[in-house]
Amino acid sequence: MINRINPIFRSVLCGASAAFLVTIVSGCSRGRPSEKPPIHVNPNMDIQEKVTVQSANPFFADNSSMRTPVAGTVSRGNLREDTVYYEGKDENGELVRSLPVEVNYKLLLRGQERFDIYCAVCHGPAGEGNGIVTQRGMLPPPTYHDDRMREKSDGHIFDVITNGTGNMKSYKHQVSVADRWAIVAYVRALQRSQHAGYEDLSDIEKARLK
Ligand code: HEC
Repeated sequence: MINRINPIFRSVLCGASAAFLVTIVSGCSRGRPSEKPPIHVNPNMDIQEKVTVQSANPFFADNSSMRTPVAGTVSRGNLREDTVYYEGKDENGELVRSLPVEVNYKLLLRGQERFDIYCAVCHGPAGEGNGIVTQRGMLPPPTYHDDRMREKSDGHIFDVITNGTGNMKSYKHQVSVADRWAIVAYVRALQRSQHAGYEDLSDIEKARLK
C-alpha cells in the first residue's frame, strides 16, 4: 500500500517522522527541559564561519573585522570631481562668483520651497534676519539686504549652507547639492526683490510711471 503513495509525499513523510523521532530521542519535547543545545535537523547554511559587522577578528592587527577603505576609494556614483558644482569652488579652491546651474522659474520655485522649509525659521521669509526663532530668544542672523551680503558670491552662500558659519550649523545633510543651488538662486531673487531699480521693472510698469 505504501508503494502506491506519491514518492515525493512519501519522502516528506519519512523525513517528518525521522525528525519527530530525533526530537523524542533527544528529549527536547515540550515540558522536558534539557541542558544540551537543541538538535539542528537541517543546518543548511545557518551555521557558518563569517565576519559580522563590528565583530572582533584576530586576523587583522587592530583585531577588528571592520576595514577602512583604501585611500582614494570612491563609492559608485560619488566621484564628485566637479568641485564647482559639488563644493562651489573652482580649481584654485576659490568660491565661485556665480552658480553653475541654469536659473529658471522652476529652479526658483524649488529654491523658495526649500528656503521656506530650512532657512526661513531663522532668516525670515524675506531674508531680513527676523525668523520666528528670533522671537523666542535666538540671536538674529544678519539680513541678506545690505551691501555686504549683496556683494557675497554665489559660492559663498552655497558654502555657508554646506559647512555652516559662526553660529549657523551645516545644512548639508538636510539639503541636497541640487537644492542648495536652488536656494542660492532664490536668496539672490530675495535680495533683488528688496533692492530693485528702475531697470528691473517691466515695460508696462515703466510706462505707468511716466
Ligand atoms: C537655526 C537658525 C538658522 C537656520 C535654520 C539657517 N541659518 Fe543661516 N545663519 C544663521 C545665523 C545665526 C547666521 C549668522 C552666523 C554668524 O555669523 O555667526 C547665519 C548666517 C547666514 C548667512 C550669512 C553668512 C555671512 O557671510 O555672514 C547666509 C548666507 C545664510 N545664513 C544662509 C542660510 C541658508 C541659505 C539657510 C537655509 C539652508 C540658513 N542660512 C539656515 C542661522 C540660521
